[in-house]
Amino acid sequence: MDPRRRVAPVPRRLFGSFVEHLGRCVYTGIYEPEHPTADADGFRGDVLALVRELGVTTVRYPGGNFVSSYRWEDGVGPVDKRPARLDLAWHSLETNAFGLDEFMRWVGKAGVDPIMAVNLGTRGTAEAVDLLEYANHRGGSHLADQRRDNGAVDPYGIKLWCLGNEMDGPWQVGQRSATEYGRLAAQTAKAMRRFDPDLELVACGSSHLGMPTFGSWERDVLTEAYDDVDLISLHAYYQPVDDDLASFLASAEDMDRYIDAVTAIADSVGAIRRSTKKIMIAFDEWNVWYQSAAPSTPPSGEDWPVAPPLLEDHYSVADAVVVGGLLISLLRHSDRVTAACQAQLVNVIAPIMTEPGGSAWRQTIFHPFARTARHAQGAVLDVLRDGSTTTTDRYGEIDAVDAVSTWDDSSGEMTVFLVNRVLDTPAEVTIDVAGAQVSDIIECVTVGGTDLHAKNTLDGPDHAAPRPNGSARGGDASVQLTLPPASWTMLRLRAA
Ligand code: AHR
Repeated sequence: MDPRRRVAPVPRRLFGSFVEHLGRCVYTGIYEPEHPTADADGFRGDVLALVRELGVTTVRYPGGNFVSSYRWEDGVGPVDKRPARLDLAWHSLETNAFGLDEFMRWVGKAGVDPIMAVNLGTRGTAEAVDLLEYANHRGGSHLADQRRDNGAVDPYGIKLWCLGNEMDGPWQVGQRSATEYGRLAAQTAKAMRRFDPDLELVACGSSHLGMPTFGSWERDVLTEAYDDVDLISLHAYYQPVDDDLASFLASAEDMDRYIDAVTAIADSVGAIRRSTKKIMIAFDEWNVWYQSAAPSTPPSGEDWPVAPPLLEDHYSVADAVVVGGLLISLLRHSDRVTAACQAQLVNVIAPIMTEPGGSAWRQTIFHPFARTARHAQGAVLDVLRDGSTTTTDRYGEIDAVDAVSTWDDSSGEMTVFLVNRVLDTPAEVTIDVAGAQVSDIIECVTVGGTDLHAKNTLDGPDHAAPRPNGSARGGDASVQLTLPPASWTMLRLRAA
């Protein structure tokens, strides 16, 4: 890796997360007024502390599938006057005790930037512009004054907006065809830009790579909306299929190919239009998800429970290694992926879990995210890999070791993130720091290599807490280290 060969500055927005009104993400997740650690706004203090430790930079809100039938006005104003509504996406009762103003107060306390999604399922351009006026106009108009009356005198200045969510999904309330959605997205974007031309707007891509719409959807949506939007969204969730752990560990291969494919499609639409503009990628939902309840099969029945426990996956050490690998893929593509959100933040397929009224704790996947978010600083470097390969059922022959590196000019620190994707063999790695001299190995830590199926619990132990990897030896322009089988490693060097 060569400090002169830079991919792009690290987009800090890669370390985003996602809060949806789904299950216990909001209620008994980030918000629980009766909790012993809750502050005057009802925000759980223990969760806020873990969110800060996780290093999350941005949070997308309020969905997800939820947004496609959400009326944002229900969630503002005096709490005792807010209506309870049936949430059609997750078959729950939404009390609306938590809404936009609460979210923006929470965002301020968490020290993150908001990403706001608008409902283009049951609603359209008019309601999106209303929401924008309420959120971002300084005052003197009906909706901006309403915000001020509700206690938020300063406009929120929300810059990044998602134009709907997964609009090709048959599970989506208000599913549309690509051309229909592309026109609606373009029209909504144009209207929103009349308010503020500098907004950043995200068009929905296909819900995932396996959708029959994939490819043609991106092409057709961008054919309608290319000039009006800045980013297109990608969503991907990974899980082992038929116990094929080797392919699962290599999930970043799928993410790489997905990003490369959408980039090529977007660029081809741009080329046909002779546009100099490049559409960027918002990978605004990604994670490991065991899909015990897939989006197409929301819970059913007579009951509409308030904040039921939904999609509460418990993660293993293998899942943590995969999450570390997916972050490597996102960083590698930082010239095109300029925003990303791990889905989701608390309780729902999440790095942070809570007990209602009780403790909050870290899942295994918390650790690679937290370390990457903290130490991927400066610029992403182009890493040239040369070495042994491994064969997986799903992706064929791939590099045994995946890696990416960042270089921070101001501190002279180089951080290398590596995954050994081979299940039973350690990897001996030589890092050649072309053109630079290594003066110090600051830290080398590893997750994995041990019981891949172990999961964290409320009472511990913490199976994926990064442990020191004492194998790193350096000098001059190279460093040698050993990566245990099926593991994620972060190596921090000082080089000049
Ligand atoms: O993150 C869970 C769900 O997955 C989201 O609501 C939806 O956008 C996706 O299908």
